[in-house]
Amino acid sequence: MNTRASTALGADLSAPVLLKEGTRLLEPNVYRTHVNGQPAVVKDYSRYRRTLLAPIARLMVRHEARMLEQLKGWRHAPALLGTLGGLALGMEFIPGETLSTSALVGQEVFNDLQAALDKLHSAGITHNDLHGTNVVVSAGVPVLIDFTSAWRFPRWLRENPISRQLRRSDNANLLKMQQRLTGVAPSAEQAALTAEPGWVRGIRTGWKRFYRRMKGEAA
Ligand SMILES: Nc1ncnc2c1ncn2[C@@H]1O[C@H](COP(=O)(O)OP(=O)(O)O)[C@@H](O)[C@H]1O
Ligand SMILES: [Mg+2]
Repeated sequence: MNTRASTALGADLSAPVLLKEGTRLLEPNVYRTHVNGQPAVVKDYSRYRRTLLAPIARLMVRHEARMLEQLKGWRHAPALLGTLGGLALGMEFIPGETLSTSALVGQEVFNDLQAALDKLHSAGITHNDLHGTNVVVSAGVPVLIDFTSAWRFPRWLRENPISRQLRRSDNANLLKMQQRLTGVAPSAEQAALTAEPGWVRGIRTGWKRFYRRMKGEAA
């Protein structure tokens, strides 16, 4: 199958089942369907067609497609099937349960997930939205999905403070999921490695205050 981001998917989409309805701003509707006979997931932003947000939605589709294209052949990410009219993205359907719905997940899954995340980071990519709903465990293998917020840093920028902070934050999210699902708390070394530096805490607190004030004023 041609997996280039520019690939236009055929219209052979059968009986889509809604997996997640996009309710918040710039959230896609996510469907399970078949593309050319293969189980697939389509992330669909077409409700933004002919709106001012259409160009941003198109950028998001292109961006996620490009990320998946770069991860082609990797067992920890779904294969890209292509894009549909610029406002929808098709990818391989990963059978299994997300970490947010699985009750029992063994430590091996988290060891695999940590190795996968290290590999992603060593390719210069940060996921930036690592939560239970964005990891599907398929026959014991953790598969990362939802690369909307992912970012690839060029080699010369990989050791800059922002890139390091995003890697640290991916790792902290993984450890949180691990603690929730296996009860294993991070080791002292892991806790030290994922602790937020002062400048990040400052930005976060400032942002929260600003956001609360904006919400207060809007109410
Ligand atoms: N390739 C996939 N295989 C299986 N399920 C998927 C796949 N992609 C998405 N899903 C399901 O749809 C949900 C929403 O998709 P996601 O890409 O996370 O969209 P959003 O950007 O709205 O969070 C996921 O939490 C997961 O349950
Ligand atoms: Mg998601």
